[in-house]
Amino acid sequence: MAIDELKQLGQLGFLGMMVDPKYGGGGMDTVSYVLAMEEISKVDASVAVCMSVCNSLVNWGLEQFGSEEQKHKFLTPLATGEKIGAFCLSEPEAGSDATSQRTTAIDMGDHYLVNGTKNWITNGGSASIYIVICQTDKEKGHHGINALILERGMPGFIVGEKEDKMGIRGSDTHTLIFNDVKVPKENRIGEEGFGFKFAMQTLGGGRIGIASQAMGIASGALELAIAYAKQRKTFGKEIYQHQAIAFKLADMATQVEAARLMCLNAAGMKDRGVDYTEAASMAKLFSSEIAQFVTTEAVQIHGGYGYVREYHVERLMRDAKITQIYEGTSEIQKIVISRGILKD
Ligand code: CAA
Repeated sequence: MAIDELKQLGQLGFLGMMVDPKYGGGGMDTVSYVLAMEEISKVDASVAVCMSVCNSLVNWGLEQFGSEEQKHKFLTPLATGEKIGAFCLSEPEAGSDATSQRTTAIDMGDHYLVNGTKNWITNGGSASIYIVICQTDKEKGHHGINALILERGMPGFIVGEKEDKMGIRGSDTHTLIFNDVKVPKENRIGEEGFGFKFAMQTLGGGRIGIASQAMGIASGALELAIAYAKQRKTFGKEIYQHQAIAFKLADMATQVEAARLMCLNAAGMKDRGVDYTEAASMAKLFSSEIAQFVTTEAVQIHGGYGYVREYHVERLMRDAKITQIYEGTSEIQKIVISRGILKD
């Protein structure tokens, strides 16, 4: 996806949907965001992940925890789509184990000196504002982590090669390298040491976005499968008239509906100010798993046509896989859910 297309998405209001209009956003709620994520993901999951990262991880985090100055300087151009944002947590040795950050931000008085590498960064090549999670005080463990705002063009900030991925191939995913990048102190989000909690809280909302992406991919595959089943004939009738196909469609539709309700439930909880941590993880876990099932069945219904590039279902099947991996693998969601249900 080209940067111009991303900016058009922003101009249409899709990158700052939930941001307060006073910062250039759409002022919508999370339920509206889920509905938009479903529709976009039905057609193009690469656009949807860009949208999810911008809305949930970058803009929401800045609006909730950024200073007024940071909101005016960074959030407004992000919410209007003038600039694209990226959220940089994962590292070569810190994906699931997010407390083991190796990227360092050494306190130099009026600025931090940032060194390290971030991996698999969505929008890595098209962004110009990056929220980077860094370790400042190793002794303090996760209490010594900061979230810093870096800008493209800062000396020592290198955008690495684009990843050659299995799916969501239209989304640009890059490694980022930081060599002695000087970051002003005013670019730190929140108090010193707030970075890990910032990342965890932001990822909670991000999981609603990815759950909706997964549900939308499944919903798109279901629509394609229904349309194909009504048009393709075997043994003298349209294939949907064979119970083998009709039952598959019934199972697929039931799963999509359940995933949609879980996404809307988590979004509604967030909008009502209720703790949605487990609900978001449950929605992501379930939606990303049914996305595998539904897209695979959609390919099956298409038969040989489903296996070739000309038909979109094979792309949806490849795109679905990543939803079980990013913003916390399915196993991470199970950690979050089990801790939540088992706590006193
Ligand atoms: N809200 C606020 N604080 C939270 C929190 C939450 N949801 N979850 C944890 N914390 C706090 C804890 O209270 C604790 O703080 P205190 O010590 O002050 O009490 C601190 O964070 C550490 O918590 P844990 O001991 O639970 O941490 P842990 O090491 O056991 O890890 C984890 C918890 C859930 C596994 C976490 O590491 C995690 O979510 N990992 C996955 C990270 C992830 O999603 N990576 C994906 C990268 S982003 C991405 O993919 C974006 C993209 O490009 C699409």
